[in-house]
Amino acid sequence: MRKKFFIFGIAILILSILSYYNLKTSVLFPILCVSLLFIGFLNSIQHKHAILRNFPVLGYFRYFFEMIAPEIQQYFIERTTDGKPFSRNERSLVYQRAKNIDATTPFGTQLDINQSNYEGIKHSIFPAKVNDDMPRVTIGGPDCKQPYSASILNISAMSFGSLSENAIVALNKGAKKGEFYHNTGEGGLTEFHLQGGDITWQIGTGYFGCRTKEGNFDADKFVDKSNKPEVKMIEIKLSQGAKPGHGGVLPASKNTEQIAKIRGVEPHTTILSPPSHTAFNNPSGLIQFVAQLRSLSNGKPIGFKLCIGQSSEFEAICHEMIVQHCFPDFITVDGAEGGTGAAPLEFSDGVGMPFEPALIFVNKTLINLGIRDKIRVIGSGKIISGYSILRAIAMGADLCNSARGFMFSLGCIQALRCNNNACPTGVATQDKMLMKGLVVTDKAERVYYFHKNTLHAANELLAAAGKTAYSEVDNSIFMRGDEFTKLSDLYFPDNLTSVSQL
Ligand SMILES: Cc1cc2nc3c(=O)[nH]c(=O)nc-3n(C[C@H](O)[C@H](O)[C@H](O)COP(=O)(O)O)c2cc1C
Repeated sequence: MRKKFFIFGIAILILSILSYYNLKTSVLFPILCVSLLFIGFLNSIQHKHAILRNFPVLGYFRYFFEMIAPEIQQYFIERTTDGKPFSRNERSLVYQRAKNIDATTPFGTQLDINQSNYEGIKHSIFPAKVNDDMPRVTIGGPDCKQPYSASILNISAMSFGSLSENAIVALNKGAKKGEFYHNTGEGGLTEFHLQGGDITWQIGTGYFGCRTKEGNFDADKFVDKSNKPEVKMIEIKLSQGAKPGHGGVLPASKNTEQIAKIRGVEPHTTILSPPSHTAFNNPSGLIQFVAQLRSLSNGKPIGFKLCIGQSSEFEAICHEMIVQHCFPDFITVDGAEGGTGAAPLEFSDGVGMPFEPALIFVNKTLINLGIRDKIRVIGSGKIISGYSILRAIAMGADLCNSARGFMFSLGCIQALRCNNNACPTGVATQDKMLMKGLVVTDKAERVYYFHKNTLHAANELLAAAGKTAYSEVDNSIFMRGDEFTKLSDLYFPDNLTSVSQL
């Protein structure tokens, strides 16, 4: 191909020079030919990219189309029910709720509801009155001195670094207006988080914000920050669904001077937080750490976040709570389908328990050990609608966190560029130019409305199921398509008894 490129290229160059002298055509064409031949020559002698070596100029098309593949997929190929991790319908729902415009759909469902994996709510023939109050849950077990009344929908952990400063400010201002909390993520508590909204300060293995020079936990720095009035709760991050067993990842392209200063690390280098904590390394140590943070923060609610892996390890932690008679105020359960700014594919696709079984397991384990009433369970796993909130509560959550739902409310278009600093909407980038696209005042309103309208939808569903309180929600109001396959028995009178057993 290289030979053909040079023969063809030189022929066109000669033709363009001849036409310039004889026909007085523009000089631009010969200049373009010389430039392309020069680029082609450089590509043909380089050793890094085989495609460009073999196709010195045409090879660029491959890189171009690869770069815009997510956009082509989204704009031209994706159907309304397609799109991963979130379908176009799901994203549109968030956009409409965030813009506070009509979020109804026309003509009927686009789902195939006769499939066995169809899921829905069993409504009541006698629906309850829709409650206009925003539901809240108090977090704080027996040893907590400063219990916190939380909304049942809150902003899940996403660090400044992973998200832009405009995104963080807009999230916090939205949280302030809507009276729900904003989890800082493991990147630390920064000035951008302190816009007046309630804060859950997350402490990851990097201890950013309460870190010694050696990278260990610094109790003095923790006291200073944890006692700020905006900090309502503290969450120890054990693991995250998208990369359990792997520490946080801040790509070099997003590690600016500003972020490096906040985190106390070297700028423009990829920062890999260690997979495990240095403050403890077993269940007993974790529970002692919970007690230490509770005492240092003057009794604020302390919890931990994890994605379930080996169930026996979680059981061991629960036993340790009983032995030490020290209970976390909350446990956040993240599913393996959870999101991230950056993670190795092996970890995103192949490690950790999905949200549904993990939540059911955690809830049942706490009930079986008789300690469920001391601990609130927070569910985080693709919560973006009223339906998903009710479903999480039915499976054992008391309240929910949403990360990507709130990203959509900020204008995220699922461009899948969180890890290379090129997020086109200014949500997940540190590029000042791109960040300017995200106007804080406008987006803070959207964050507020997404929360408000989603909870209103949850209230409507609750009422449709004939319930008046979220504490009444359990699995009995849900149905799955495979339940109905039994209805085929109706066509066989001999089997009618099995219908009555439904
Ligand atoms: C951009 C981004 C950054 C995240 N950063 C953190 C983090 O710092 N700490 C953490 O525990 N989880 C982090 N997560 C995970 C979320 O908090 C959440 O648990 C997960 O995405 C599941 O919620 P979702 O389905 O609503 O997105 C991040 C997720 C995203 C999308």
